[in-house]
Amino acid sequence: EQINKGKYEHYMQKEIHEQPESLTTTMRGRLKRGGSTKAKTVLLGGLKDHIKSIRRSRRIVFIGCGTSYNAALAARPIIEELSGVPVTMEIASDLVDRQGPIYREDTAVFVSQSGETADTLLALEYALENGALCVGITNTVGSAIARNTHCGIHINAGCEIGVASTKAYTSQIVVMAMLALAIGDDAISSQARREAIIDGLFDLPNKVREVLKLDQEMKELAKLLIAEQSLLVFGRGYNFATALEGALKVKEVSLMHSEGMLAGEMKHGPLALVDENLPIIVIATRDACFSKQQSVIQQLHARKGRLIVVCSKGDVAAVCPGGSSSCRVIEVPQVEDCLQPVVNIIPLQLLAYHLTVLRGYNVDQPRNLAKSVTTQ
Ligand code: G6P
Repeated sequence: EQINKGKYEHYMQKEIHEQPESLTTTMRGRLKRGGSTKAKTVLLGGLKDHIKSIRRSRRIVFIGCGTSYNAALAARPIIEELSGVPVTMEIASDLVDRQGPIYREDTAVFVSQSGETADTLLALEYALENGALCVGITNTVGSAIARNTHCGIHINAGCEIGVASTKAYTSQIVVMAMLALAIGDDAISSQARREAIIDGLFDLPNKVREVLKLDQEMKELAKLLIAEQSLLVFGRGYNFATALEGALKVKEVSLMHSEGMLAGEMKHGPLALVDENLPIIVIATRDACFSKQQSVIQQLHARKGRLIVVCSKGDVAAVCPGGSSSCRVIEVPQVEDCLQPVVNIIPLQLLAYHLTVLRGYNVDQPRNLAKSVTTQ
């Protein structure tokens, strides 16, 4: 077992740190620079006979549970932008509970690391009965979801052992960004945008390597938060998913109550919780929502909120109303907006990991949880 962990103490730690490599494997052979007709393009072999039907579908529905659902939520904006097709989100159990509408003209995308989650499989059965085109995004070749969907993409992140998903999450987002590029591949108007994303994907493993250097800083932060009862995480736009996933990581392994929230909803309830004691992480990296996040920070600051801000490198003065003494800042490298969730989740994965070890809990097998939930 120790051999598999290499130099690391835990699988979760190893899997967090191997993300530059797992992301490289996820993209291998799928991104093309150069060539005769198109300068930069994406090849997803598993979809080649279906990509036209996906493009023509009336709606794309993403279906998953836990971290896999969050990964789809992170990719939703870029799929909407590049495909022009409406995208809706379904938590697998909720879709089945409601017997929600799924039509023949829909593309239903099933996202699952294991490919065996019972709720996601039931939702797949239901979508097949309703005649939707079913696409699987899994990390497990030969899994039930890979076998029973019409077509799909393997994320190729390598075996994930820690119950809390880390490297599969970032690889899922990258696969769905590539899916967005493949669906939008015929639109001239977005060619420059697509090429910028492809360049960003090529450079992403380097940026992830850079953000992993925050390890010690996140351990220090974990020491400060070790005895807290609760933690809030606010995000919006591309990073609404980062807020949900960061909070999920903290709660599932460190057993600290933690909630991820849409920053746009702050005034509609959560603001009542703010005082000088409750730690609040705000994701405020540069993108189209940046100025709105600046104003969220100001409002939290005005109520003496205990702020921890994740911002783009060099942005401390722009995000801290009273300078760095008024809040703790985590600076991350800036990447293409739709890829920023891949970078931004990493300090939160590290925080969850260190909080758990410091609090003395089992980081690879959290209380009451299983890696693959194959029962309802
Ligand atoms: C369990 C795991 C989570 C995972 C979820 C969905 O709850 O503990 O880490 O995100 O199932 O699993 P899947 O294999 O479908 O991605």
